Amino acid sequence: MATNNPWFWLFFGVVLLFGFVVFRGAPYVPTQRKYLIAAFSKLYVLQPNDVLVDVGSGDGRVMRLVAPRIKRAIGYELNPALVFISKLLSRKQHNVETRLADFWVAKLPDDVTVVYAFSVSRDVRKLTEKLKAEATRIGRDIKVITYGAGIDSLKPDKSYQAFKLYTIHPLQA
Ligand SMILES: C[S@@+](CC[C@H](N)C(=O)[O-])C[C@H]1O[C@@H](n2cnc3c(N)ncnc32)[C@H](O)[C@@H]1O
Repeated sequence: MATNNPWFWLFFGVVLLFGFVVFRGAPYVPTQRKYLIAAFSKLYVLQPNDVLVDVGSGDGRVMRLVAPRIKRAIGYELNPALVFISKLLSRKQHNVETRLADFWVAKLPDDVTVVYAFSVSRDVRKLTEKLKAEATRIGRDIKVITYGAGIDSLKPDKSYQAFKLYTIHPLQA
């Protein structure tokens, strides 16, 4: 019987880990490195004082790519298996931090300057509200790079292929 087979339970566990996140956000689909390299040269040029947050950081590839050029990178990831992989692969990069956390209920670091979001259309409005609330809380603009689903309610500062760059302003009191 399948339930006596350890491979069944391993497979079941993996499906569960990767499957449950779709109720809270985008499923795991990594951004290809070549596209990231292009986006960070043509769309937004990183500065040494930038603090980048990856919303749903997957295996941590975005953070590892940008970390040598910025102050620090923080990823929020819901899937414990991906958090483990991300921490393992990023262990030599001391300005990379992967947090096992649900982005929707997390407080962004006060010094965040850039957010990277490979999101799905369903979540865009919620993401925009969350980022506006965070920009208002920290009292500064936040640059947001979206990949895939863009923010329909805002005009992008720039576009490059499937990437868009936006500025989220704090709400006026
Ligand atoms: C489309 S993938 C992007 C991965 C990575 N940012 C990249 O571009 O390669 C989305 C990731 O977000 C994670 N995720 C989905 N909902 C989340 C939530 N509410 N909080 C934190 N991570 C979430 C998924 O587990 C998945 O790894």
